[in-house]
Amino acid sequence: MPPTTPPPAALDRVVETLATARAITVLTGAGISAASGVPTFRGPSGLWERYRPEDLATPEAFTRDPALVWRWYDWRRRTLAPLAPNRGHAVIAHWSNRRPGLTVVTQNVDGLHEMANTRDVVRLHGSIWEVRCAASCDRGREPWRDMRVPLPELPPRCAACGSVLRPAIVWFGEALPAAAFTRATAAARCDLFMAIGTSAIVHPAAGLAARAREAGALVVEINPERTAGSELADVALAMPAETALDALERGLALAEGRPPLPGQ
Ligand code: OAD
Ligand code: ZN
Repeated sequence: MPPTTPPPAALDRVVETLATARAITVLTGAGISAASGVPTFRGPSGLWERYRPEDLATPEAFTRDPALVWRWYDWRRRTLAPLAPNRGHAVIAHWSNRRPGLTVVTQNVDGLHEMANTRDVVRLHGSIWEVRCAASCDRGREPWRDMRVPLPELPPRCAACGSVLRPAIVWFGEALPAAAFTRATAAARCDLFMAIGTSAIVHPAAGLAARAREAGALVVEINPERTAGSELADVALAMPAETALDALERGLALAEGRPPLPGQ
């Protein structure tokens, strides 16, 4: 991706709102992790170009062939394990720790926001680093963390009841975790809503920007490409997330009279 020149007026407008907004919601998608080396889902080299979602990321696929689905997730876990958060994650984490009114909502399952020490991430689609019992037995119902790479046995099994375990990820056709969705919906009532690195296709996450707009928020999109959400945005910054967030952090630091977050 060639470096893009920030459109100064658009950036200034976002900095101004960032400096004064009380409630800020940041919604991220796969694009925030692109600079860390995580493949996105859609687009020319996206994961869904090589695999059909219905073959892998549905409850039906898992019932049909749990070992196949697990091989795919184990491969993704191996791919993710050596990767680190990038400047975009770092800036969001910095803001989240300075601003109690800022909520980070992510569709990503890669754990990079958490690794960057972001405060209290709302995970709409679960985590690739958590598993739970596919039979929802008493002891296996709540997800737990399992960071082993590779997993010693595929499919992994529930120690309590012997059923297969599943990734604690939301698959196509499944409902979002109720608590996370409630928090995300509440966070859509804000002064500034930033949709970063998402194609804005997958609902209900894609509907949050419209809710924010209705609530009177300034809606900002950060994405080098136009998306299904670009129309709705008041400001569309056509830049990679890591570049835009770095520029916004520099502008915000200047406005707040503090040094910017070191790095980059
Ligand atoms: P997509 O792969 O659909 O979209 C990624 C977006 O990131 C695209 O619009 C790219 O243009 C943009 N992008 C690429 N590089 C970028 C960069 N450096 N900075 C900013 N943006 C960049 O990913 P999502 O919108 O996250 O669900 O997909 C939503 C959901 O679909 C995922 O959470 C996943 C998938 O099915 C589950 O895993 C449950
Ligand atoms: Zn079990």
